[in-house]
Amino acid sequence: MCGIVAYVGPKDAAPILLEGLARLEYRGYDSAGVAVVNRGLKMRKVKGRVADLAAAVPSRFKGGLGIGHTRWATHGVPSDVNAHPHLDGAERIAVVHNGIIENADELRAKLTADGATFISETDSEVIAHLVARTVKDTDTLEEAVRTALKRIVGTYGIAVLDAERPGEVVVARNGSPIVLGIGEKEMFAASDVAALVRYTRQVVHLEDGELAVLRADGFHTFTMDARETAKETLTVDWDAGHYDTGGYEHYLLKEISEQPETVARTLRGRLDERFHIAHLGGLNLTPHETRAFRRVKIIGCGSAYYSGQIGAQLIEELARIPADAEPASEFRYRNPVVEHDTLYVAISQSGETYDTLAAVQELKRKGGRVLGIVNTVGSAIAREVDGGVYLHAGPEVSVASTKAFTSTAVAFALLALHFGRVHDLSPADGRRICDGLRKLPGQLAEILALEPEIAALARKYAGHPSMMFVGRVRGYPVAREGAQKLKEISYVHAEAYPASELKHGPLALIGPDMPTVAIVPDDELLDKNLTTLGEIRARGGQVLMIGHRAAEAKLADDCLVIPKNETELDPILLTIPLQLLAYHAAVTLERDVDKPRNLAKSVTVE
Ligand code: AGP
Repeated sequence: MCGIVAYVGPKDAAPILLEGLARLEYRGYDSAGVAVVNRGLKMRKVKGRVADLAAAVPSRFKGGLGIGHTRWATHGVPSDVNAHPHLDGAERIAVVHNGIIENADELRAKLTADGATFISETDSEVIAHLVARTVKDTDTLEEAVRTALKRIVGTYGIAVLDAERPGEVVVARNGSPIVLGIGEKEMFAASDVAALVRYTRQVVHLEDGELAVLRADGFHTFTMDARETAKETLTVDWDAGHYDTGGYEHYLLKEISEQPETVARTLRGRLDERFHIAHLGGLNLTPHETRAFRRVKIIGCGSAYYSGQIGAQLIEELARIPADAEPASEFRYRNPVVEHDTLYVAISQSGETYDTLAAVQELKRKGGRVLGIVNTVGSAIAREVDGGVYLHAGPEVSVASTKAFTSTAVAFALLALHFGRVHDLSPADGRRICDGLRKLPGQLAEILALEPEIAALARKYAGHPSMMFVGRVRGYPVAREGAQKLKEISYVHAEAYPASELKHGPLALIGPDMPTVAIVPDDELLDKNLTTLGEIRARGGQVLMIGHRAAEAKLADDCLVIPKNETELDPILLTIPLQLLAYHAAVTLERDVDKPRNLAKSVTVE
């Protein structure tokens, strides 16, 4: 999704902006641009990659004040002209914008009638013209930006500069993230800390409805009615090294391979040996409040939602509290009944997914108690919720989520253990789950060691136009996540079904062209799953079985045996071979593994 970088300070802005934009490439984009101020505005924009933009920026592109952008097209095709920054007619104001302006057509018509000439198809260009209308009559750029934003309906993160005020950048946020970076006599801003960590780890997150004025010597933040606000400075744990591929061919493989360590970080300091409980200090719930909840409702989008389905099962099994998961993107639109004895849990790796954030805001408006399971510290969802669990999985750069998915499932196991031990879960079962959780990092490493075998299977199956993924109860969310991974990075069509549902319809699809990946854990449903394998093979379908027992290997065409943990925790491990299967299928098919077509890392628009 679109990215913003801004700089004001004593150095030349352009190299800093280009480096920042390169750090935002992972979010997905189709064009890029930069503008700097040095006796007037200088601008370069290109359709294509940040490297193409860097090649188009001349060496004399000097100036210590600048803004940059990576665009993911919404209004108008990817092109040089539609790329940001956008200028007013007099080329005095430059604007970069993330988000969507809903009343852009109406504003464009009014501004055109008033003499403005638009050169792009974007909604964003109206901001430059609106700011330019008032900047001549206002004392500050900040006032002109505020006046312009009051006419805008929609979402935005913006950075604005004025060629006639070469010492400051104004940024503002409403629904699209903006984070300030504090340097030594220099200030930065970006839509994502990834663009900042090379220069500073001291950051300040803007809230919706806030605006900031950045100068080399510091910053001031204001509400939209010009009241100054006090901000807390956070120190980011991650440094620039966390954003490198670390010698791996792709970020995705690096992130899959990191999972023994990232899961260990999610668990660190949270398991109590003595009472077999989980310490989750950030929940902000008393034991009395925890016992009072009658239901748990989990929301998230895409893979976050599938990890929520694993979470719902863990909570039901360990705490015996009814729990279910729903896509946040659906939940927010159906005017849900918000119950005061329900605990709501929002999941997000980025903490910025707009649908999840909007669902959380709707819940809060109606008095719902909301926890967050979030990876990005200080992100919008983390700030909005009443409490929660940070994953500590480190930055996830590849568009396809892997380590955040696994750490979310682990965080749910901790939450379920915590809830279970204040309800009916016995100390013995608490100990069993704690021991199982401690075993996970070692078992993850054992599964990763199967990579050559999984790569060979990926090469065997990648050529099929379509694949079926099936699992039963605990295995069903695993199947859904496996299908999601395969389709998003290899573009191979994949369907996921509960194994029990096959004979109610999708069995009609089974045949030599449609192999099935079957999740077959060694649990109480083993026999039923094995029967399903027989049904598939009787119809000419090939089966790749992922499970725990070599004894049944002859019932499948291929079988991958992985280590067994406690039955409740097995879904966490069963997902890992599917990540590797999707990765190697994508490599076999020569896909753009880390930046799959049409997708963005964090979806900050509706
Ligand atoms: C995962 O592989 C996808 N890229 C996507 O489904 C993602 O999980 C979803 O957009 C939610 O993102 P979030 O966790 O940052 O909120």
